[in-house]
Amino acid sequence: MLVVTTIAAVRARRHELWRSGHKVAFVPTMGALHEGHLTLVRRGRELADEVWVSVFVNPTQFGPGEDFARYPRTLERDVELLREVGAALVFAPSEKEMYPRPAEVSLTFPNLSRHLCGAHRPGHFAGVALVVSKLFNIVQPEVALFGAKDFQQAVLVRRLVEDLNFPVRLEVVPTVREADGLAMSSRNAYLDASQRQQALALWRALSAAQAAVLKGERSAKALEGLMLSVLGQTPGVRPQYVAAVDPETLEPVEEVQGTVLLALAAYVGSTRLIDNLLVEVPQ
Ligand code: PAF
Repeated sequence: MLVVTTIAAVRARRHELWRSGHKVAFVPTMGALHEGHLTLVRRGRELADEVWVSVFVNPTQFGPGEDFARYPRTLERDVELLREVGAALVFAPSEKEMYPRPAEVSLTFPNLSRHLCGAHRPGHFAGVALVVSKLFNIVQPEVALFGAKDFQQAVLVRRLVEDLNFPVRLEVVPTVREADGLAMSSRNAYLDASQRQQALALWRALSAAQAAVLKGERSAKALEGLMLSVLGQTPGVRPQYVAAVDPETLEPVEEVQGTVLLALAAYVGSTRLIDNLLVEVPQ
């Protein structure tokens, strides 16, 4: 497995693969890898000849007061895990390599980022779109893999690819959960033992809303109320938003039908966690 830190080294290797006709699947990450990321790599291996992974904590997607400085950085361990799971190349650039000077370009998503996390993290998705665009242009993968836990991110990246004609196919892979339902996230590393228990409230809230849909509840307001009340039953959990939205437009719905995305964000202590669940509404 190659570990490289420069754009020039990625490009040089990419040219070699073009000559041999080999395809690349790309998994962009911010490191602190967990089973969710490794699942993306394993899936990538089924789709292409080589899987390349970037590890870069992207400063432009963090707002003031967010956790950029304390975001876990565990490159050595990440490289080991990626070697074990069969990645072929790790691109771990410095901030200077990715942003030799502040970018002038800004990509905004006035509709898609109006909802869910976008409503609470101004500038976040512009930062994601910028770095993903740069990484796509550097790596030029045939396929790129994203996790469904960051559902809004996946929807935005799909639109980015479509609007800017990136020649890449996207694959969105279902969220990987711990045995008790907690969605895997690099930010789970911030939780102490009792917060780890409290964090289960997110999954309980989504599961309760899903059960209600399956029993016939169709009012988005009622489902949101239910999710809030489940979150409210766990001290230490502070909801930021709960929502029932259309999974394509991310617009709030009044009545759920077809497929609905239940999504939420909550603070557990000072750690902000997100989760979501796609629910097929019975006819
Ligand atoms: O999902 C993430 O880890 C990040 O948002 C991404 C896609 C690697 C861009 O920095």
